[in-house]
Amino acid sequence: MGDASLIGHLSGQLDRLCRVAGLDPATAQALLADLLGSAGSSLVADGPVWLSDVADDHTPVEFSIAFDADGQLTVRVLGEALSSDINTDTLLPIAYAFLRAQSTRFDLAMPLFERVQDLFAKPNPDIGFALWHSLVFRHDGRTEFKVYFNPEIGGQEQAPELVAEALQRLGLGTSYRDLLERTMRPGELGRRDRLAFFALDLHDGPHARVKVYVSHYDAGIPDVLRAASVVDGVDLDTLAEFCSTAGGGRDRFDGRPLVSSYTFLAGADGPLGYSLYVPIRSYVNDDAEARSRVMALLDRHGFDSVALDRAIDAVAGRPLADGVGLIAHVSLRLGPPRPGITVYLSAEAYQVGPAASAVSARTKE
Ligand code: TRP
Repeated sequence: MGDASLIGHLSGQLDRLCRVAGLDPATAQALLADLLGSAGSSLVADGPVWLSDVADDHTPVEFSIAFDADGQLTVRVLGEALSSDINTDTLLPIAYAFLRAQSTRFDLAMPLFERVQDLFAKPNPDIGFALWHSLVFRHDGRTEFKVYFNPEIGGQEQAPELVAEALQRLGLGTSYRDLLERTMRPGELGRRDRLAFFALDLHDGPHARVKVYVSHYDAGIPDVLRAASVVDGVDLDTLAEFCSTAGGGRDRFDGRPLVSSYTFLAGADGPLGYSLYVPIRSYVNDDAEARSRVMALLDRHGFDSVALDRAIDAVAGRPLADGVGLIAHVSLRLGPPRPGITVYLSAEAYQVGPAASAVSARTKE
């Protein structure tokens, strides 16, 4: 790796991943360069310029590959906009500048963004992030943008209120309070069930599409089923089986939290879609084990598991058994807009998590 720059490392991975999905990498590469800004030329060997929470090793980018029912693959980048002068005061201005720079070219729905922007604009040096971006590259050449706001930016107690206000300003989620009431564990909102992200799609023209994410700390499969049960048409047996397989048969998830998301669309009272994200890296010994579980899930749901290996090869710089965390999450998307499975792949630019077998071997020494 030696003298590799951050952009050099990440753009190689992104280029290969786009090719796996049959996509022209040019747009993705240009956006990656904009996202990293002047931090792109920083050397990987010098370590992160900003302690981003996007990934465990503070790489500001995480890749994912989405398997959709139509057989197509979608490549996505979750990223935090950087600059070499990034700090807690410049974080938001840098994120806004990145969006503004893309808004005309990609026809982003900036009026929607501006309707809620101020709610999530409280400078807060104590929280992990302020605004993240998702860049979605579809097989037909379309590029879509999503922003993630932090519901806890004004403090944990304010989060439910902040999300309620944001949904209301966007004309959505009149039944949101009732939703929280019915989905969270009693008395656990703000404790073991926490509002994690408020995501807004910026490609849907005047109609907002919003996702609200809840992290369930120390949860079991019944807690997930309760969280999902309020969304019409969710097959709870399928969800339970997915969660159990991803977790290797465990029924308690006491490492990194399981995450639920609810999709809201204009014209509907309650959420129309539900997704579950399993942070599989907390529940495996190494990435070889994570891969075999994800393979089983893809096969079970009728997706092309061969593509998974090609995607892993595009991103991985090491044998799978040599670490943990390359496969960071696996998610099941149920209901509109697109059912399917998504696999999240860490760039591991700065660090590889030690395999559990390596950790136990060391403690025995
Ligand atoms: N790294 C953070 C986490 O694991 C944020 C994150 C990145 C995340 N990708 C995600 C959270 C996918 C849920 C799903 O929590």
